Amino acid sequence: MDSPRAPAASSAAVPRHVAIVMDGNGRWAKRRFMPRFFGHKQGVDALVRTVQACADRGVEYLTVFAFSSENWKRPSEEVSGLMGLVLVAVSKYLTKLSKEGVRIRIVGDREAVSDRVRDAWHTAESQTAHNTRITLSVAFNYGGRWDVVQACRRAVAEGLAPAEIDEARLSSLMALSYAPDPDLFIRTGGEVRISNFLLWQVAYAELYFSDCLWPDFDAAELDQALAAYARRDRRFGLVKTAEPQPATSGA
Ligand code: IPE
Ligand code: IPE
Ligand code: MG
Repeated sequence: MDSPRAPAASSAAVPRHVAIVMDGNGRWAKRRFMPRFFGHKQGVDALVRTVQACADRGVEYLTVFAFSSENWKRPSEEVSGLMGLVLVAVSKYLTKLSKEGVRIRIVGDREAVSDRVRDAWHTAESQTAHNTRITLSVAFNYGGRWDVVQACRRAVAEGLAPAEIDEARLSSLMALSYAPDPDLFIRTGGEVRISNFLLWQVAYAELYFSDCLWPDFDAAELDQALAAYARRDRRFGLVKTAEPQPATSGA
């Protein structure tokens, strides 16, 4: 049938996997007459708060969009500021996150990033590999289309025949193969779009959009998203059986 990674057809109160497009850092800084970098810096603190809040609420997987395949198009000072922030964030928060039981994984194309950033990611992953409380996947130089393409390339490289490629097989070649599909997709910053985040994996995610700018995101904002999620009726294409179905004409 379909992928074994697909979520169960129910509305479990707490999502196992939350995916977040952390958007609005630049506007947050602009409102304060500060450079965009200041917003990104505060955004790291919001991320650390959110990881903690998700772990406290029993979320098992948190996947965040930190740098998209398209973000290279930004001014070079902003791109290099973001790359530098990776190094700062890892040195500032890795020990704390590791102590709290956070397993860190990086998803995205590592080829284009500098050796220093690649090494920082490697350190973050290896130092937290044994942790089991929550898995934080940081999508960095990631694009949903890149992910589909790299999975197809791997399928070809493995010599798979067309008949051997099905949804489950392709899922197993995608960057987030170790995680169930996201149950809840949150985007902050007021834009109502996916911006090439987890295109394949969000097929049945519940979508939640908030005007909150990412540096302001906190446990209370997370709780609002979780409350909205808990009210959703997830059907996955099934007919809801709890309520009487209308009689079919002519039956
Ligand atoms: C999201 O915030 C962070 C990254 C894309 C790296 P933005 O930088 O997109 O902030 P806005 O959308 O311009 O406010
Ligand atoms: C999406 O935000 C990428 C990240 C949050 C890392 P963008 O700010 O880059 O998205 P667009 O350009 O508004 O679609
Ligand atoms: Mg943005």
